[in-house]
Amino acid sequence: MAEIFDVIVIGGGPGGYLAAERAAHAGKKTLLFEKNSLGGVCLNEGCIPSKALLNSAKTYQHALHAEQYGVKCEGVSIDQKAVIARKRRVVKTLVSGVRAKMKGAGVTVVMETAAVTGKTAEGFSVTAAGKAYLGKNLIIATGSNPAVPPIPGVREHLGQFVMTNREVLELEELPKRLTVIGGGVIGLEMAAYYAAVGSAVTVVEMLDHIAGATDREIGTMLQRELEKLGITFLLSHKCLAVTPGIVEAEAPNGSKISIPADKVLLSIGRRANTEGLGLETIGVNCDRGAIVTDAMCRTNIPGVYAIGDVNGHHMLAHTAYREAEVAVNNLCGKPDAMRYHANPSVIYTQPELSSVGRTEEECKEKGIDYEVRKLSMLYSGRFVAENEGCDGLCKVIIDKKKRNILGVHLLGSYSGEIIWGAAEMLEMQMRVTDARQIIFPHPTVSEIIREVLWEFED
Ligand code: FAD
Ligand code: NAI
Repeated sequence: MAEIFDVIVIGGGPGGYLAAERAAHAGKKTLLFEKNSLGGVCLNEGCIPSKALLNSAKTYQHALHAEQYGVKCEGVSIDQKAVIARKRRVVKTLVSGVRAKMKGAGVTVVMETAAVTGKTAEGFSVTAAGKAYLGKNLIIATGSNPAVPPIPGVREHLGQFVMTNREVLELEELPKRLTVIGGGVIGLEMAAYYAAVGSAVTVVEMLDHIAGATDREIGTMLQRELEKLGITFLLSHKCLAVTPGIVEAEAPNGSKISIPADKVLLSIGRRANTEGLGLETIGVNCDRGAIVTDAMCRTNIPGVYAIGDVNGHHMLAHTAYREAEVAVNNLCGKPDAMRYHANPSVIYTQPELSSVGRTEEECKEKGIDYEVRKLSMLYSGRFVAENEGCDGLCKVIIDKKKRNILGVHLLGSYSGEIIWGAAEMLEMQMRVTDARQIIFPHPTVSEIIREVLWEFED
């Protein structure tokens, strides 16, 4: 007889492990399947390892430019093997922390690949390593994988000359020349790391701008800052083919160019992991590979929820966390919903780019009557005190008539630590006059938001 659980979670990334923990704490008998390593992409080959590397780059750059701050550092160099070794230690610590959390919460963890095989009167059946389990509720949290385009040479050289996020976070030798295909979030963070530690980096981006749907003005400012690190951006360039040592691309005028490269990073987006999951056996709806969910993280099948990258809403770890809570609350009978408009995002380059809510481009496209005010980061005392020769921007967008805050976009130090406050302003539907009453600590970079709010009329 298959063992029956209240909740079966498939996938042990940030979405899945948090859902399992919350469900167990809510008194549900919970089973979690993970086929690789607890912590998923985020802990093992995404958020955390990339931030560990970026912190090494930041430390290195600080040491290189320490004289600007009256500090003498001599013989500064980067030890890439040591950087990777430290990253591995960080990952190991955090993965064991997740394991301990699962144990502490009383979650049954099975380290196997699971697939849904149908529905019986007792629940959904799930099979792993030839063993069957039953779940009254299912939470699918299988995450995503790098998209691999049919560009000649890419598939053949994948994992070697052509890297995904997996290999680029494991490189023990610095490539002299790195070409990045795709100027989105992964491309920018990794370009920033490798350029900061000495590689010659070229980013090939097919659009005429970097950073995807980020507010264009602030994205362009980030590009200028990254160019100061020596990164070359080839915008409106289409990658045609890859052969070891060369990336071929088409320039906007139709001419072909060859970019010499020792390594290539492929970062053109990610695809939801739904293949081979057996979702068709219970009739779960998917759209272009991602599971279709509503704001309550419900699929079209009652009792089946999908959270994190696999539903394709916002492929971010903190989105997965909140979706985990929303799914568990709903299956426990406590109505809860996602409010995606107040979901912040951060690009952890140096400087950091952080955003929440509407961009100017979006407002124009949707015909929203908006007003915008912005200030240079040089209006922030702490920013000036800590950043020699750098600049940044804070931009706030409001609804012209209702005067509520629609979007906040920041380029500058600590912005990733500040943006949640702006998200709260959106979440609480604050008007400019409401948000002005918030007391910001001084001196902090966050005060720039307050300064910008006072640029608006009441
Ligand atoms: P995942 O983390 O992908 O976890 C899914 C898990 O399910 C995996 O462990 C997988 O092995 C397992 N699994 C899949 N199929 C099965 C199966 N059939 N049976 C059992 N187990 C299965 N987001 C941020 O918010 N901030 C960042 O700074 C950030 N940096 C990133 C940097 C990089 C390089 C990358 C690639 C991503 C980054 N992300 C970041 C995105 C973030 O990693 C994802 O949004 C997040 O990991 C999604 O969590 P998840 O739980 O949905 O899926
Ligand atoms: P992305 O969607 O952010 O960017 C992909 C870029 O590649 C786009 O600019 C696109 O125009 C470009 N592109 C697509 N096809 C191309 C081609 N053939 N040639 C040249 N350019 C091409 O995807 P990315 O960087 O792979 O990241 C995936 C996801 O991972 C992100 O969307 C984000 O959700 C998550 N992530 C989040 C991070 C964070 O929160 N700091 C860090 C890294 C990843």
